[in-house]
Amino acid sequence: MSDKIKYTRKGDVAVLRIQNPPVNALSHAVREGLVAGMAQAEADVGVKAVLIVGEGRAFIAGADITEFGKTPLEPYLPDVCKRVEASPLIVVASMHGVSLGGGLEIALSAHYRVAQPSARVGLPEVHLGLIPGAGATQRLPRLVGVDASLDLITTGRQVKADEALKLGIIDKVAEGDPEEVGLAYAESLIADAAPRRAVSEMPAPEPIDWDASYDGTLKKGRGQISPAQAVRAVQAASELPFDEGMLAERKMFMDLMETDQRQGMIHAFFSERAVGNLPELKGVEPRALQSIGIIGGGTMGAGIATAALLAGFNVILIEMTPDAAEAARGRIAGNLSGALKRGKITQMKFDAMTTTALEVSINYDSLALVDLVIEAVFEDMGVKKEVFGKLDAVCKPGAILASNTSYLDIDEIAASTSRPADVIGLHFFSPAHIMKLLEVVVADKTAPEVVATGFALGKALNKISVRAGVCDGFIGNRILATYRTAADHMVLDGASPYQIDKALVDFGFAMGPFAVGDLAGLDIGWATRKRKAATRHPAERVPTYPDKICEAGNFGQKTGKGFYIYEKGTRGSVPNPEVPELIAAERTELGITPRDFTDAEITRRYMAAMVNEAARLLGEGIAKRPLDIDMVLLFGYGFPRYWGGPMKWADLQGLPAVLADIESYAKEDAWFWEPAPLLKQLVVEGRSFDDLNKDAAK
Ligand code: CAA
Repeated sequence: MSDKIKYTRKGDVAVLRIQNPPVNALSHAVREGLVAGMAQAEADVGVKAVLIVGEGRAFIAGADITEFGKTPLEPYLPDVCKRVEASPLIVVASMHGVSLGGGLEIALSAHYRVAQPSARVGLPEVHLGLIPGAGATQRLPRLVGVDASLDLITTGRQVKADEALKLGIIDKVAEGDPEEVGLAYAESLIADAAPRRAVSEMPAPEPIDWDASYDGTLKKGRGQISPAQAVRAVQAASELPFDEGMLAERKMFMDLMETDQRQGMIHAFFSERAVGNLPELKGVEPRALQSIGIIGGGTMGAGIATAALLAGFNVILIEMTPDAAEAARGRIAGNLSGALKRGKITQMKFDAMTTTALEVSINYDSLALVDLVIEAVFEDMGVKKEVFGKLDAVCKPGAILASNTSYLDIDEIAASTSRPADVIGLHFFSPAHIMKLLEVVVADKTAPEVVATGFALGKALNKISVRAGVCDGFIGNRILATYRTAADHMVLDGASPYQIDKALVDFGFAMGPFAVGDLAGLDIGWATRKRKAATRHPAERVPTYPDKICEAGNFGQKTGKGFYIYEKGTRGSVPNPEVPELIAAERTELGITPRDFTDAEITRRYMAAMVNEAARLLGEGIAKRPLDIDMVLLFGYGFPRYWGGPMKWADLQGLPAVLADIESYAKEDAWFWEPAPLLKQLVVEGRSFDDLNKDAAK
């Protein structure tokens, strides 16, 4: 018997207790142990039922993801499930914590299921680029029908015990020690002479319009394959005998295992867990955080205040006038009422957050006792320095002074105070109470425990926090500026903004760069172009037609017109016909004969620009690990999760191929496309970005 399964006999019930911390993943030793445990129970004279229960915080979190991509070892999970279900004894699963993926599949192979009220079940395989591979696509539809199965399998949504009971996934909800609850249930089943009940022997589910469901799911997944493939697997449950359906599921599962999407999504899974784990912060204790000051109550400041209140902090927000302070309070209350409507907070919490936990003021002295202040005022170095001067004067020693600037030099801001070690950048993304990304910008003199506190705050706010160094735009906006420029160049050379947006949405982005520009406000890019004009390299190609759009007062969505036209009262948009005219005029002026771009070339150039700038940033130490860049793009810039991030995408293409693209584009524009030294070095060494992630983890 494997040491991962503890066998005990309790009366006429054999208990198989899974002991594989932290989450009882179904690693090889667990699978072996379960098979051996079933055999031992069946050979144990007098045993009438088997109880499967998990130790620690979960029943079973699923297959062991760290084994994916390696040669699978027997017994395979579908065979373990088959072995459990085929037992002549009654098999009961007692579920607590999560039962996910293969964990739910083991439970579905048991004959009866009881769960704690706090338990959650789900089939999250689609989030890993897979479908369930051990029978859930065949068993669940037999148990709960096609509609509920498709909902769960194609979305990966987790359901709580009460909903699972309603759906028929579990038979009973009971509170208590999972083993005690399971034993009581097993004994009651024995006493009632309950029959062995194998889900695989239940009738096949009724069919639906499979093609329509497949097409709809594919569209919703924006290019992600696995949810649509899940529809075909459930179709097999309806159309084929159980054993043949299992073979069909296995084939689809193994095919998906070979895809780039599976690799990308599993990279995302591990990276989002590794990103907050900085080697430099090992053993560094964060400072205590209870109250947070915020300077500026505009959209950003109010969003940050909302996020802080939702996380249970006390917030003091400073504005310039009493009217502005009350307007900020209104904005925060508006954000919080959204959370109230969505059921995220109770009315009582809402009332507390908008009254006792929140103070608005026009007086910096109110910040004397706060633990951390985040400044979110106008992006101007002079204004920022003035604010930091006031903070330096009133805040208690040890208070952290943070700037939410998206590009200004934090070293310079820090140097203007008497306590540069306490100064840090905390770059939120708008709307700050919704967007998951937080760039923790570490300046030259920032103390390690201040960095640790930035990460602790990010965790408390439920953000994905990424360490960044100081440069214009930090990680995200600096890379954005470069791939956005690549798109601008393609427009000058012949592509239309609309073709580019569509090609990138087809690639999997939530939106294309021109639609994003309209959403963010074209005046932002306009201001940046003006700001950078003085320091621009003479070889830099910068289009002027976007300035003309702005000069006419068209800033995108907020004015109803930009690259697209937004009709009031409708959600959609149509291309603005004035834009192609402006572009054509600029091409004529520059003597450019427009050429055709394929969608594939558009994507390739856009991605090459992104990867090249990211590699440059890594080489400069602005980002420490490739995975940090991947997480910035995934959580702040709508990058398709199934590619794992731009660095993972580059690894999947092969770095020599990406470098070859960049070198071929450099023949047209040697300045913009100069290959990043780190990229060249990795190609020479035959290494990948992921090798750098592994180096950093050592
Ligand atoms: N395999 C291996 N390791 C796993 C794991 C799994 N299935 N699930 C979690 N872990 C690891 C995490 O990587 C993490 O490791 P570190 O501490 O070294 O970083 C540790 O367990 C704890 O995980 P979290 O930090 O995520 O803890 P949490 O309490 O926030 O969340 C969880 C726990 C809900 C189980 C979450 O980890 C999760 O969602 N895990 C993935 C579950 C999943 O996708 N299961 C399906 C697997 S695919 C499958 O089963 C295919 C099949 O049908 C054959």
